[in-house]
Amino acid sequence: MRILAIETSCDETGAAVVEGDGDQIRIISNVVGSQLKTHIPYGGVVPELAARRHAETIIPIVRQALEGANIKEKDAARALDAVAVTKGPGLIIALLVGVETAKSLSYGWGIPLIGVNHLEGHIYSVLGGDLAICGDNPLSELDARFFNDPSVALIVSGGHTELMHIERYGVYNYLGRTRDDAAGEAFDKVAKMLGLPYPGGPSLSNLAINGKRDAYNFPRPMMANPNCEFSFAGLKTRVLYTVRGLEKTGGLEAVKKVAPDIAASFQEAVVDVLIAKTIYAASLRGIRSLIVTGGVSANTRLREKMSEAAKDYGLSCYFPSRSLTGDNAGMIGIAAYLKVRYTGRYDDVFRISVNPKLSLESVL
Ligand code: KG4
Ligand code: ZN
Repeated sequence: MRILAIETSCDETGAAVVEGDGDQIRIISNVVGSQLKTHIPYGGVVPELAARRHAETIIPIVRQALEGANIKEKDAARALDAVAVTKGPGLIIALLVGVETAKSLSYGWGIPLIGVNHLEGHIYSVLGGDLAICGDNPLSELDARFFNDPSVALIVSGGHTELMHIERYGVYNYLGRTRDDAAGEAFDKVAKMLGLPYPGGPSLSNLAINGKRDAYNFPRPMMANPNCEFSFAGLKTRVLYTVRGLEKTGGLEAVKKVAPDIAASFQEAVVDVLIAKTIYAASLRGIRSLIVTGGVSANTRLREKMSEAAKDYGLSCYFPSRSLTGDNAGMIGIAAYLKVRYTGRYDDVFRISVNPKLSLESVL
């Protein structure tokens, strides 16, 4: 089964061709058109501009994805078996561009449509990574590890910080989420305070490499609370006061001097909280494996420390390959294939609708 997948839920315009065959699944092409330049002047994503950019670039990006899979446009209707698209959660006007494009292609080519939950895409992005290339039969491996034994997924990005219990494919229970900022958002905001370019996550973690992790004793909000809730606003504010204090006494130079230490100490605080809550979630229900996914899962320190913690508690831990941590259509194609494989269900071109707050609990 060959699927053209489309992703436009936030600020990446994505199209991919994914091929599934029984237990096997692979991403053949995966094109991501980043809108970074559009949003940099504003220090964050502007929904109206994101939607306009999606509208301008979606067709050229679909073309590139087809080319990457050696599919000629005139043969697309025969070469493809379905069109998949993210229908939520995300920015409504951004989602609409992808869904309307997918509807048109599906209708025009006479092939079925598969609506996908963006978070499910993030969860199953782990299949497009190391796991998919390490065995002949990656999906069976996944079946055995994730679907026969319940697992916990930590979805951690610019818009999400949530812990999810995965009972089996399609049966998800929210364990907890952030009460204020998402972890990626906190990275972005602290990076801005330190004068680093947007998006802050990658630049802050680069700066942190040369910093002392214990230079500042930043708070680990809610870490000791026996629940799966997060809060990063207080930590962010504490960093802000630290930066302001330094500015007052020594100006920007003083901030610059210790910026690597602030970055490393802040990163350590976020990572500690993410790990403590994930391990707590896993201890609740006899979980055997962890899935850590989303933009922030590219963070090297998080990967290192989470893998160590998982080992200590006898848990397997899976991350997507780094190219699949951010928003991309390849992961949407994988989730679409699984949806059809496990439920046999497609979406109606005339009825599908976007839902900016789409919950994962409504997948089945
Ligand atoms: O999944 P994603 O591309 O988009 C959302 O759905 O939000 O995640 C983007 C977020 C941004 O906040 C970015 O700063 C963060 O992921 N991020 C990182 C790293 N790479 C990206 N945060 C920490 N460390 C990184 N290496
Ligand atoms: Zn995302």
